[in-house]
Amino acid sequence: MDLITKNLAARYDAAAKGWNGKITPLGYPAAYAALAEKLGMVDAAALDILDAGAGSASFSGAFIAVHGPPKSLTLRDISADMLEVAQRSLHETGIEAHCVSGDIESLPAAPVFDLVLCAHVIEHCPSPAAALKALRGTLRPNGKLLLVVSKPHWCTTLIRLIWRSRAFHPEKVHALLAASGFDNVENVAFASGPPSRTSMGYIAALQEENHDNCDC
Ligand SMILES: C[S@@+](CC[C@H](N)C(=O)[O-])C[C@H]1O[C@@H](n2cnc3c(N)ncnc32)[C@H](O)[C@@H]1O
Repeated sequence: MDLITKNLAARYDAAAKGWNGKITPLGYPAAYAALAEKLGMVDAAALDILDAGAGSASFSGAFIAVHGPPKSLTLRDISADMLEVAQRSLHETGIEAHCVSGDIESLPAAPVFDLVLCAHVIEHCPSPAAALKALRGTLRPNGKLLLVVSKPHWCTTLIRLIWRSRAFHPEKVHALLAASGFDNVENVAFASGPPSRTSMGYIAALQEENHDNCDC
């Protein structure tokens, strides 16, 4: 991990204990649940799921609340303290997650997941395209990505100043996804509250023909 990522991890370590208490009243877990619902009928018990940049596992927790427990759940994050909070809160609901400390970019390129969840993470990555390609490399054929990305709005300006993160127009996110081997991208706008102003959800399918032959 480079120094900038280590510093970011330290800042998220410091924020970990209060994270759920901050994002829940703002409506983010509810927005993640609404995005999970857009997947339609899902046999969660057959899915190996990765929550990439899981934080306190609010996205995977929301997915499980909608679709039920997956076959396996892996949480990956650069912040060890976030992973500890995530593991504890999932354990309280009877879910045992496999926690891995590390950045998205160094995920092994092996198709071992059916679904990747990733909320408000690529905004932090020096190369969002490299991060998305790394996520793509973990998906089995027919795999899907549920992505949430900050969009430009005055509400995100303050967040971006505090966290030194970025925001992307949906057109840019579509271009990044296409260049990373995803297609059939569906935008899922959030209905209300801060998530409706700060963020956009996306459901993306894997370009099957590119999965094994990616030269990017
Ligand atoms: C804004 S929080 C979002 C957490 C969670 N996904 C949610 O929506 O509540 C960003 C999370 O991404 C993690 N993170 C940032 N850069 C990362 C990277 N390159 N690889 C993996 N995790 C990263 C941070 O440690 C933090 O937990």
